[in-house]
Amino acid sequence: MRRVGFVGWRGMVGSVLMQRMQEERDFDHIAEPVFFTTSQAGKPGPDIGKSIPALKDARDITELQQMDAIISCQGGDYTTEVYAKLREAGWKGYWIDAASTLRMADDSIIVLDPVNQNVIEQGLTKGIKTYVGGNCTVSLMLMGLGGLFRENLVEWVSSMTYQAASGAGAQNMRELISQMGQIESSVSSELADPASAILDIDRKVVEAMRSDAFKTDNFGVPLAGSLIPWIDKAVEAGQSKEEWKGFVETNKILGCSDNPIAIDGTCVRIGAMRCHSQAFTIKLKQDVPLDEIESIIASANDWVKLVPNEREVTMRELSPTQVTGTLSVPVGRLRKMRMGPDYLNAFSVGDQLLWGAAEPLRRMLRILMQ
Ligand code: HSE
Repeated sequence: MRRVGFVGWRGMVGSVLMQRMQEERDFDHIAEPVFFTTSQAGKPGPDIGKSIPALKDARDITELQQMDAIISCQGGDYTTEVYAKLREAGWKGYWIDAASTLRMADDSIIVLDPVNQNVIEQGLTKGIKTYVGGNCTVSLMLMGLGGLFRENLVEWVSSMTYQAASGAGAQNMRELISQMGQIESSVSSELADPASAILDIDRKVVEAMRSDAFKTDNFGVPLAGSLIPWIDKAVEAGQSKEEWKGFVETNKILGCSDNPIAIDGTCVRIGAMRCHSQAFTIKLKQDVPLDEIESIIASANDWVKLVPNEREVTMRELSPTQVTGTLSVPVGRLRKMRMGPDYLNAFSVGDQLLWGAAEPLRRMLRILMQ
């Protein structure tokens, strides 16, 4: 793997990818990293601790063709514009992509190697050249519950999500903070007065949130102090696309699309910054004792972390505030449900920019470099 091209390395997912690659010294293993740009060709590239050529034009098929592998965090429109042209030009290199465009293509693999190393290896053996990161909620669910799927214990899963602003983009994260600021400033004098009436505060807050001045250019509606129970466009049967992905991508990642496991639920945007949380109802194929379930979940990979189903530790550790910026995927609230001994309750939290986006791509590149 001599020449690796990077596209979209300056955006939010791309920046997290760069940060992780530097932390893991991945660039030591790449003889010629080449950075591409859609707007600044000829300018100097980023400081990665080794000398690199000036930025190249990300739409220049001849330049892209020189790469052994290309990793793109540029987004779906770029993939749609460039990928087919590059393949039509006869390029046989590896394409690693964060965007969803190619995820469900027959000749692509969705990568999450702690969960589907076997599917990735089969793909490499078959000569598949396109490797795509999964949807963030799907990848985070599988990082957390991978052990149950590995042991073939899951009949179906209902996943109710609590998705962070970052999943909608950098501008949305900014807007969420602005909305929080607008809410606070609408009642700052009342907050400073311990004698002020809470119902007056509440009325003023709602007035601020409903006013035309409330910043909603990106979300379309208030998120701070509220929530949005719809993510992405509508697909069939009343599902949102985010909900549809939960089923199709999970089964593709696990390599069981021919005999799929039912996954469904409601995807909800909440006012967290970059951690997606999910509440699961899991129908097990049989009644498995809780201690066995715990050890199956905890032993699945190096990042899943069991949180005892106790109040203090759950509040402290099963929390977006605690998990953000880390690779840890805590799973807790594990208990059998009233519906019966084969119904399991669980809750997980994970950073959607790390395991939900950049990390599986970084690790795929490392697999190719072995
Ligand atoms: N679609 C996800 C979300 C982000 O909107 O939160 C990335 O998979």
